[in-house]
Amino acid sequence: MYRSIIKPILFSLTIERAHRAVLILLRAIGLIPGGRWLLRKCYAVEHPALEREVFGKFANPVGLAAGFDRNGEAFRELAALGFGFVEVGTVTPRPQAGNPRPRVFRLPKDEAIINRIGLSNRGLEATIRHLRRPHEGFIVGCNIGRNTATPAENAAADYLKLFRNLYQYADYFTVNISCDNSCREGATHTRAHILRILDPLFDFRRGQNQYRPIMLKVSPDMPDAVIDEISDILLETPLDGIVATNGTHNREGLHTSRTTLDKIGSGRLSGAPLTQRAVEVVRRIHTRSGGNFPIIGVGGIMTSDDAKAMLDAGADLLQLYTGYIYNGPGLVRDICRALVADAEAKAAAERAAAERAAAEKTTAKPAAQQLPAEHTPQPAATAPAPENAENAEPAPAESRTPAQSGPDSEQPES
Ligand SMILES: Cc1cc2nc3c(=O)[nH]c(=O)nc-3n(C[C@H](O)[C@H](O)[C@H](O)COP(=O)(O)O)c2cc1C
Repeated sequence: MYRSIIKPILFSLTIERAHRAVLILLRAIGLIPGGRWLLRKCYAVEHPALEREVFGKFANPVGLAAGFDRNGEAFRELAALGFGFVEVGTVTPRPQAGNPRPRVFRLPKDEAIINRIGLSNRGLEATIRHLRRPHEGFIVGCNIGRNTATPAENAAADYLKLFRNLYQYADYFTVNISCDNSCREGATHTRAHILRILDPLFDFRRGQNQYRPIMLKVSPDMPDAVIDEISDILLETPLDGIVATNGTHNREGLHTSRTTLDKIGSGRLSGAPLTQRAVEVVRRIHTRSGGNFPIIGVGGIMTSDDAKAMLDAGADLLQLYTGYIYNGPGLVRDICRALVADAEAKAAAERAAAERAAAEKTTAKPAAQQLPAEHTPQPAATAPAPENAENAEPAPAESRTPAQSGPDSEQPES
């Protein structure tokens, strides 16, 4: 229904109008008794195999990326559409209008979007009002950033103000260090800048009764050395995990014409052209950090195969934005169903292997017992019989120590 009816209507509007219309519609559905229940019935896939224990219990690993519900106004309805979690924001301390319109563009030939919204949002107070609404049992993250007008040297104060004031309303926080689209990553993705922002948050958190994980959201446009430097911050500080990645400034390999791209101008590109790079960044962070820290993989997840590639690269959780615009709520359902199918196939294969192993064990034993004495395998004829033959018997399988067990026994990994 999304592709044949809703998408053509939405795509006939500017992307920002379509976005506004969807949020209003969702809020209206939320006001109708049973509205969210109906959404859940139509779209949500519930299955134990989807549940993830990462930093809290997620009903499934597919989340909505920051930028869609910037003020937290429809997160409960979005949850009912089947997401395992929603990241609201980016929120800044004061409301800000963002860049002049038009500032978001669809690139249908590339299944992509370019945006230079510039962190338009209604600010801290409005977000608190929305996040006050109950959301037990559903994980809501809050993506925080600094106001564009805040000078770089005061950035840390903006992040701390947001963290303090939103602490009790969000389940985790994402620190968005990518400035609005007027600047590039060079200055913000440095160890010194990141720690200037994070250290006051760690200090504040130490004094709280409840623990709120802090994630850092990064750009896909970092050279490998910078990805490694940021991964090392994970190892050396109380930072909990990474959200990788934001949109890219790269325009290589697009089907959209150069003229159109020139007309659109600057902004972050998201969607299908980003898939491969986002997966590469996630894999590098996962490897560098030893696979021990939560990674939210985001960027160009347009199909269930993209979602699996991201998980295979080391992501614990996923987020969608552009894929959701092009494919609708059916994408979350498709990814969840594909993950359930994989988990069931894996469990069936493991069961079959266990049954085969058990069958081999029971058929092998009686056959050996039935052999007449002269056919019982003997040590090499020339070898002298051990003095105490009883002690030379191999221990029965169930009494073997791990060191004696065969290669398929359970051994702790080194
Ligand atoms: C219109 C639009 C607005 C966005 N706004 C934000 C934002 O406010 N904060 C943020 O951290 N990321 C923002 N993003 C980036 C997304 O959260 C995501 O990281 C990026 O789009 C890559 O994922 P995708 O390819 O699935 O879209 C925005 C993306 C789009 C398309």
